[in-house]
Amino acid sequence: MGRKVLCFGLTCILFSYYMYRPVPDNIEDKWKIEILDALIRTFTPVGLFLENIGVVRFERLLSMITEMDFTGPVSDENITVTDTTFSDIPVRLYLPKRKSESKRRAVIFIHGGAYIVGSYKQTCYDILNRMTANQLNAVVVGVDYRLAPQYQFPIALEDVFAAVEYFLHDEVLAKYRVDPTRICISGDSSGASIAAVVTQLMQNHPEFKRKIKAQALLYPVLQIIDLWTPSYQENAHGPMLSRDIGIKMGCLYVTTNKVCIEAMGLNQHMPDESRHLFKFINWTILLPEKFKKNHVYTEPILGRYGFIHSEIIDPRLSPLVVNDIQLQNLPLTYILTCEHDIVRDDGLMYATRLRNVGVQVAHDHMEDAIHGGLAYLGRIFNFYQATKLRDKYISWLDENI
Ligand SMILES: *[C@@H]1O[C@H](CO)[C@@H](O)[C@H](O)[C@H]1NC(C)=O
Ligand SMILES: *[C@@H]1O[C@H](CO)[C@@H](O)[C@H](O)[C@H]1NC(C)=O
Repeated sequence: MGRKVLCFGLTCILFSYYMYRPVPDNIEDKWKIEILDALIRTFTPVGLFLENIGVVRFERLLSMITEMDFTGPVSDENITVTDTTFSDIPVRLYLPKRKSESKRRAVIFIHGGAYIVGSYKQTCYDILNRMTANQLNAVVVGVDYRLAPQYQFPIALEDVFAAVEYFLHDEVLAKYRVDPTRICISGDSSGASIAAVVTQLMQNHPEFKRKIKAQALLYPVLQIIDLWTPSYQENAHGPMLSRDIGIKMGCLYVTTNKVCIEAMGLNQHMPDESRHLFKFINWTILLPEKFKKNHVYTEPILGRYGFIHSEIIDPRLSPLVVNDIQLQNLPLTYILTCEHDIVRDDGLMYATRLRNVGVQVAHDHMEDAIHGGLAYLGRIFNFYQATKLRDKYISWLDENI
C-alpha cells in the first residue's frame, strides 16, 4: 500500500513539473493542449519503463487506450452505417439515406496512427466520416488495415490497396450509386502516407488509371529518409508528438531492430547508395522561404550503420521520394499542414514538388495547430482546431469533387 501511495505521489509531482512546460503561445486550445501534453510527458516514461521491464509493449498500451474510444456502426436519420469487408479488408460504409436523382460522390478515408494503432472505429473518424457523408451526400468508406509491428511494411499498404481496388470496380460503384468520376481518397498522418502511395500506384493500374479524381492529405507523413528537416528540429520536443516518440512508433512499420531505430534518431540510417534520393527532399530548395528560418542544411551521414534495410529506400514508404515523371499525372491534391508538427515540411515539400510538375494543389496551413488534430474531434476532447480542420477539409471536398 505504502509503495502504491509513493508511486502515485511521485507521478503527481512529475505531472505538475511537466505541467509547467509552456506550449507555444499562438497555439489554439492552449490550456487543453497543456494538460494533455503534460499527461503525455508524464505517462510516456511510465509506458517506456513498463516496456523495458517486460510488462507491456508501448504500442500495445497505446492500442489499449485507443480501443477505449471505439464506437460501433450506428445509423442515424440521415446515414446508414454498416461494417463489412471489401476483398476481406474491414471497412465501414456510410450511405446517405437522402434520395438523389444523380449518382453520388465518394470518399475513401484511411486513418492514421503511425501504422501501429487506430481504426475507422475511433469516435473521431466516425464523426468525421459521418459528417462528410451527410454534408456531401456522398458515400464514405473508412478502411482498416493490419497494424505493425505484427504486420510490417508493406502489409498496411497492400490491405488498403486491395480494398480501394475492390471499391473501384464498376459493379461495386454501381451498387452504391457512386459516380465513377467523382472519387477522392483521403487520410491523415500515416493514413495520408498510404493514401498518397495508393494514388501514385493507381496511375499505373491498367483498369483504374483515371478513377481517382482527387487526393486529400491531412498532415501527411511523406518520407522517412531525412528526419532532420526544420520541422523535425523545431518540434523535436512536442507539443504532443515528440520526434523520439514519432520515430520509435513509425519505425515499427519497417523494423523492430533497435540499432536501426537508434540510427533513425541520429538521422544516420540511410544506406550509402541512397545519396541520389536526397535531391527529392532537399528542403533548402523545396521549402517556402518562411519555413527555412535560420536552419542550416547538413548533408546526411550515410551508411554509418553498415546495415541495409532495403525497405528503407522504398518509395512506397516515402512517396515524396520519386522522380517528377511519377508525379506529373497525379490528380487534384489537397494538402493540410500544421505549424507545430514534426512532419510539417513533408507536406510543404510535396506541395512544391507537385506544383513544379503542374499538378493542381490546394494547400491549407494551420499556424496554430498540432499534429494529429483530427484525434481531438470527439466526445472527450473537442478541440476548436479539430473542428476547424474538419470544416476546411469537408468544404474543400464539397467544392472540388
Ligand atoms: C440530418 O441532416 C439534417 C440536414 O442536413 C441535419 O440538420 C441533422 O442534424 C442531421 N442529423 C444528424 C443526426 O446528423
Ligand atoms: C541541397 O541544396 C543545396 C543548395 O540549396 C546544395 O548546396 C546541396 O548540395 C543540396 N544537397 C543535396 C543532397 O541535394
